[in-house]
Amino acid sequence: MNNELWSHLKVWLAYLKPHKKELTSGIVMQVVSTISILIIPTLIGYISVAIISPESTNSFNIKEVFLIVILLLFIRALFQFLGSSLLGTVHEKVIVDLQANVYNHTQRLPLTWFNDRKHGDLMAIINRDTSHLAGFIAGSLPALIPTIFLFLAVMIMMMTIDLLLGFLVVLLLPIFYLISKLIGKQLRKSSDKLVKSYGKAVAIADENLNRIADIKAFNRESYETGRFREMMNEVLSQSISVVRLNSALGPAIQFMAASGIVALIWLTGGQVAVGAITPAQQVSFLLYGLLLAQPVSMLASIYGRMQLALAAAKRLEEITQQTIESDQGVELTSEDVTGGLTFNKVSFSYPQREPLIKELDLTIKKGETIAITGKNGAGKSTLIHLLLRFYEPDSGTIYLDETDIQQLSIHSLRRQIGLVSQNITLINGSIKENIGYGKETATDLEIESACQLAGLDRFINQLPQQIETQIGDHGTKLSGGQKQRLALARCLLKGAKIIILDEATAMFDPKGETDFIKKAAQSLKDKTVIIITHRKASLELADHIYELKAGKINLVDKR
Ligand SMILES: Nc1ncnc2c1ncn2[C@@H]1O[C@H](COP(=O)(O)OP(=O)(O)OP(=O)(O)O)[C@@H](O)[C@H]1O
Ligand SMILES: [Mg+2]
Repeated sequence: MNNELWSHLKVWLAYLKPHKKELTSGIVMQVVSTISILIIPTLIGYISVAIISPESTNSFNIKEVFLIVILLLFIRALFQFLGSSLLGTVHEKVIVDLQANVYNHTQRLPLTWFNDRKHGDLMAIINRDTSHLAGFIAGSLPALIPTIFLFLAVMIMMMTIDLLLGFLVVLLLPIFYLISKLIGKQLRKSSDKLVKSYGKAVAIADENLNRIADIKAFNRESYETGRFREMMNEVLSQSISVVRLNSALGPAIQFMAASGIVALIWLTGGQVAVGAITPAQQVSFLLYGLLLAQPVSMLASIYGRMQLALAAAKRLEEITQQTIESDQGVELTSEDVTGGLTFNKVSFSYPQREPLIKELDLTIKKGETIAITGKNGAGKSTLIHLLLRFYEPDSGTIYLDETDIQQLSIHSLRRQIGLVSQNITLINGSIKENIGYGKETATDLEIESACQLAGLDRFINQLPQQIETQIGDHGTKLSGGQKQRLALARCLLKGAKIIILDEATAMFDPKGETDFIKKAAQSLKDKTVIIITHRKASLELADHIYELKAGKINLVDKR
């Protein structure tokens, strides 16, 4: 195994550790199954000679030898079954562990990392590459031990029959290696291209399913089918190339092995003629030769899979070697927090963009409600993203009460903030599941009162399945305003000290908004509330109104 491969696989081999016992038992069983057939060619050699010329053999009972051969074949089948099912189980478990861990790591990466990537590519990597890698570390690597054992044992058996012929067989091996290497290299290249094009195709399908109504509205069905088809053709051409290479490997090795056997017949014939080996030994030698083809072609196929696994490992490492959001820092409970917020000379710009927030100062006292207005693209949502630490400021400090939020653990900071974001995302589940997402331990009563506050109760009561009604992918079965109300209920249920409403009532009808504001004024009075809005009714709720302009924030209305 070369150094490059080892450096990549070392980390992943840790996934085998929890399954050490099953792995060892599986390998031992496969070795036992191998041992059980080792003697068979020798026995068959004697039987065949005994059948052809009974007078030339010693008086041994052919029937008994037959029975022994059958028994050995049965033992081989039994242990092969036990070994394969144990190793197969480990293989499946490793795939699941690998996928779960890569998913977990991906989910913990900072938001900035996702901005430059396509979900489809990530899905392809999590799906296909984990299978290739797990297939190699939990499938091929354990198979290597019984395979090498079988190979060495057969070689020894051949050499004990005739040392010189045995060595001649060894000389054939570098040719097998060269064929495997050549095909393996191409296999790696093609698999790289395959995963890339597959990722692009998944990305198209994923994106399109999320914007199906737009595709219909713009009559772009044929165009999108064409785009997807084009990408799938690319996938197809790479898949065909992988299939061809994989198909070439077996026959190429078998051809070499068969030619080797033919050469052996010739060579062993010569040895029999000069009396160096007996006819029974010649038959055994040929059968060992045939048996040798199995580990040799297995080694070639493992080599091929190793190339696929190596390509997969490299792509997976591009994810797993990224640093996840650190959760070090002071742990806050809601009792520790009063809800005061201070932005002190905060500056921020997105990568390759002009500075957006410039030395911004803002103080929000605990229990205060402020509104922020400003033109599209002024940076209002960005300000909230900085507060939630989705992004870090280039300079300046944000304080929660008196503590710099950089000193807090990210999770405990986010626990203190309830957010209705401008782009609402919902689960494809029931209304109840969606609202309950705000608080794992929420009681039915709490969910109900959050619904009332968000003005969702009347709507829910009209539904046949009420709060258990399914809302569809991204809440397609809800109206825009209902989605916003659901997001509001989810946020209020969280019970955080700080509430952020980013255009949260933008789709409310005017009366609905005034009703909500009246109720909200009562229930939000102890909370620190930031409302990003242009709507007059929502501005009424605010103690102070600010405008974000040219990277600075200015007080425009103090009540
Ligand atoms: N992830 C990002 N990478 C690069 N630029 C971004 C990113 N997100 C937002 N921007 C840019 O930053 C600027 C501010 O965006 P932001 O969403 O904060 O504006 P906003 O004030 O909330 O606008 P709106 O009223 O439209 O919601 C915009 O010019 C936008 O194009
Ligand atoms: Mg915004």
